[in-house]
Amino acid sequence: MTSPVDPNVVRFFDTTLRDGEQSPGATLSSAEKLEIARQLSKLGVDIIEAGFPAASPDDLAAVQRIARDVGTADGPVIAGLARAVEKDIVTCWEGVKFAAKPRIHTFLGTSDIHLQYQTGLTKPQALDVIRKMVTLARSLCEDVEFSPMDAGRTDPAFLVEVCALAIECGATTLNIPDTVGYTIPAEFGELIGNLIAETPGGGPGTDVIWSVHCHNDLGLATANTLAGVMAGARQVEVTINGIGERAGNTSLEEVVMAIETRRPYYGLRTNINTREIMKSSRMVSNYTGLMVQANKAIVGKNAFAHEAGIHQDGMLKNSSTYEIMKPEDVGVEKSRLVLGKHSGRHALLVRLQELGYKVEREQVMPIFERFKDLADAKKNVTDADLVALMTEEHVKPQEFFRLEDMQVVAGTMGMPTATVKLVNSDGREFVHAAVGVGPVDACFKAVDGVVKAPCTLIEYSVHSVTEGIDAQGEVTVSIAPPESDRSFGGYGADPDIIVSSVKAYLSALNRMIAGMGLREMKAEGEAATVSVGD
Ligand code: KIV
Ligand code: ZN
Repeated sequence: MTSPVDPNVVRFFDTTLRDGEQSPGATLSSAEKLEIARQLSKLGVDIIEAGFPAASPDDLAAVQRIARDVGTADGPVIAGLARAVEKDIVTCWEGVKFAAKPRIHTFLGTSDIHLQYQTGLTKPQALDVIRKMVTLARSLCEDVEFSPMDAGRTDPAFLVEVCALAIECGATTLNIPDTVGYTIPAEFGELIGNLIAETPGGGPGTDVIWSVHCHNDLGLATANTLAGVMAGARQVEVTINGIGERAGNTSLEEVVMAIETRRPYYGLRTNINTREIMKSSRMVSNYTGLMVQANKAIVGKNAFAHEAGIHQDGMLKNSSTYEIMKPEDVGVEKSRLVLGKHSGRHALLVRLQELGYKVEREQVMPIFERFKDLADAKKNVTDADLVALMTEEHVKPQEFFRLEDMQVVAGTMGMPTATVKLVNSDGREFVHAAVGVGPVDACFKAVDGVVKAPCTLIEYSVHSVTEGIDAQGEVTVSIAPPESDRSFGGYGADPDIIVSSVKAYLSALNRMIAGMGLREMKAEGEAATVSVGD
């Protein structure tokens, strides 16, 4: 276990199961709490605040289970929260006493606002409560933490008095909460520095650990916590993914990765096994139902994803160009190059080669053009999209006709109508419109109006090759010419399945024209004509 006085180690006090669980809608079952506690132990947190035992018999039972199961001699300290009230403190002890290293964490609001509106205590009365309750906690448990709630808005001189008294009565950890996320980093750092310097019994060289507990109402929780660390705090109270009351608490992953990534700057160590971060993040998100925003630092889906062409090019040359951490150091398998409309040829080429396509640098341009068209139509181009795109690229038959434009009107009112503009191998354009029983039928009839190659549709199938509403629709068709035992397949992929259908039909027709020795005739008027033989 970490020596309580090692000045170079920042202890991580995880309160995901207590303050984190106070997030609106984030109630956890006791089995889920136990699993999260086990994962927090693997993550290497120094202290787990397992719950608020006096809140309900279920909370007490959950804390007892965690204390027994996870609070082993070589495991973390198991803490429970208690208001500065006798019943809470005694119940808290009932919860944590089964741990090898138990802690009672008791608190009382000390700001004028809390004294006036919440507890109705005068300052002398508050000091009296702190004296009695910290003494009681210490009579039960050797490890006692005291928090003057709303310290960020507490009169600084009174705060010194409160902390000195708590130390005198046996508190070993003094936690300074910015309960409402009101403070600014330089100000909070100064507050911690002054408290350490001015609190009798709490200065450097004593066994007292100063701790910081920040909320994120102004988005400053991590910055304030790090300012506290710079000023001498050696315990940080955090939650996984930063969950917690209102805008949440300081997020564990941000603080630990700041200290680890900027080690020469901080000159400090932690006991966190950073490779367990992602797993912990996913577990907490899954169990609480609180989604992690995509751009969340360290654990967001996009934290190690790159889309801009210039970034992707840099990443492919050397990842240090655009990444300050290695994804594997936080348990993310690898960085992702997201292929989208900002991606360049280099990233496309590398991804195609990774997918097993033998494409050389010189060959990538036509594929890149088709990729760009697709990326314009759909946000992210996935591997499945690329496979579809490459399949279409590879099996593309000789093109007697290609689709230039099309328009379809469909719905419950009126007749489904399609207009297609096709271009033949001489570059001549043909436009035809037709009605059908549905939009696909109307399109095929419009195509027939141009191509005039009689055939029967034997098979038509459509499926999505990627997930989501912007997925590519893949269509395959099979057609047969009259009085023939041959059939010809066609394939088309596009985010719009009606377009995929026309592409598939045209590719089948082109194959049939090539395969049956049909010859494209010069069109008369608006339509091309194809006839057998000749
Ligand atoms: O935010 C806060 O003040 C708290 C205390 C109970 C430590 O969560
Ligand atoms: Zn809090």
